Amino acid sequence: MMKDHIKVHGLAFRPYLSQEQIAERVGEIGQQISRDYEGKSPLFLAVLNGAFMFAADLIRACAIDCSITFIRLSSYEGLNSSGKLKTVIGLQKEDVKGQDVIIIEDIVDTGHTMSEFLPQLAEMEPASVAIASLLVKTEALECDIDIQYTGFEIPMKFVIGYGLDYDGRGRNIPDIYQLAD
Ligand code: IMP
Repeated sequence: MMKDHIKVHGLAFRPYLSQEQIAERVGEIGQQISRDYEGKSPLFLAVLNGAFMFAADLIRACAIDCSITFIRLSSYEGLNSSGKLKTVIGLQKEDVKGQDVIIIEDIVDTGHTMSEFLPQLAEMEPASVAIASLLVKTEALECDIDIQYTGFEIPMKFVIGYGLDYDGRGRNIPDIYQLAD
């Protein structure tokens, strides 16, 4: 049961996506990836911290041989992107070279994070790269990036829950809540 509103750091958030809706969509994406990567064994790169919950559910929904590793590149603070991308932590060229990589992201907002990370990843010579993002703020996109697997296209409003935080809080909430007007 979703509460009619929650407060995090003094801000009010309203219900947006229930855990049932999320689970259904994650299951569909898992099936789609399983079909698309049949006979392959992709390497999932889950972007910490936000994508940990989506990653855990998504790989369980994938009925194929695969591996997963966790990387860190978030530059986000508060409600707006700080625009400064740290270099990728937790990844070596030998992990990636020749692999079919699927990046797992919680949310693509402006797309700057992904468009700065993709060239760094390309230098590690993967066989292929795809992006699976649970949420995409389509209207906020400022970069030309291909997102092969999108959970939900959402409006340009701040969201928390299911791994997503507001200044470190809210990641444990099983549903997704949206900043109230
Ligand atoms: P981008 O570089 O603007 O695409 O931002 C991507 C990153 O910003 C995501 O991986 C999140 O960490 C963070 N982010 C963007 N929008 C939200 C939001 O609504 N809630 C929580 N984090 C967000």
